Amino acid sequence: MILGAGKFCSILSRAPLQTHRALTLKLRMNQNSTQHNASKFNHQSRVHEFQKVMGTDHSGGWDICWEQGLTPWDLGQPTPLIGHLCATGALPNGRVLVPGCGSGYDVVQMACAERYVVGLDISDKAIQKAIELSSSSPNMRHCTFLKEDFFSWRPKELFDLIFDYTFFCAIEPVMRQAWGQQIQRLLKPNGELITLMFPIDDDHIGGPPYKVSVSDYEDVLHPLGFKAVLINDNELAVPPRKGREMIGRWKRSLAQPSL
Ligand SMILES: C[S@@+](CC[C@H](N)C(=O)[O-])C[C@H]1O[C@@H](n2cnc3c(N)ncnc32)[C@H](O)[C@@H]1O
Repeated sequence: MILGAGKFCSILSRAPLQTHRALTLKLRMNQNSTQHNASKFNHQSRVHEFQKVMGTDHSGGWDICWEQGLTPWDLGQPTPLIGHLCATGALPNGRVLVPGCGSGYDVVQMACAERYVVGLDISDKAIQKAIELSSSSPNMRHCTFLKEDFFSWRPKELFDLIFDYTFFCAIEPVMRQAWGQQIQRLLKPNGELITLMFPIDDDHIGGPPYKVSVSDYEDVLHPLGFKAVLINDNELAVPPRKGREMIGRWKRSLAQPSL
């Protein structure tokens, strides 16, 4: 039952101490739940606004969204899993690529003397923001941000690790095969792909973000010779994404088919 604040106060003034405490707690819970619902509603309406812009201008839409601050996916911090993988020595060293890096929080978090990280984004505004945000970080000398289209980019050097978070779900589903081919082109033969798969949600309609499932990734990656070495729930997902996010670690089998 949700009580209005006025009614609640009049009940409180007549209640014994124990009941008073219980009722105060209930009032607080009601307020928290109202705040939670309001912020969920705000988030959803920002997602709708963002989708409207993307629907009217898909090619340049990303830049317009960045320009207008319509970035409902942006956590404002690195995703906690990345901090955990860095701290536990569970990330490969070498050259790392983050396609569709947005504000670049994960790029900066991963960057260190052993790991050179390239953040790539098609939006000039996103790249400007990432450079601005990272400019005072000591990790900045171990990373760079480039404005490029992931699908047509042809760098001179390949990567030991590619980290995809909310890029696969951001592209049109018809582009998923091209995504896989480009991942294969950009990774060293024994390189690793880490995917944070989100949103895993049967009820989710439309996009971006388009809903994803583990089998969506398998459909693209298995024919290219990638096999999952780990698929798990991401227990470190931020609360609104908990239960809808999984981690996948993928490597290409180096075995050559026998003639
Ligand atoms: C949903 S956002 C995710 C940003 C970031 N990974 C994060 O989790 O905050 C997707 C990003 O991909 C970028 N993007 C879209 N298409 C791209 C493409 N073809 N090449 C490179 N970046 C692209 C967009 O500009 C946007 O910043």
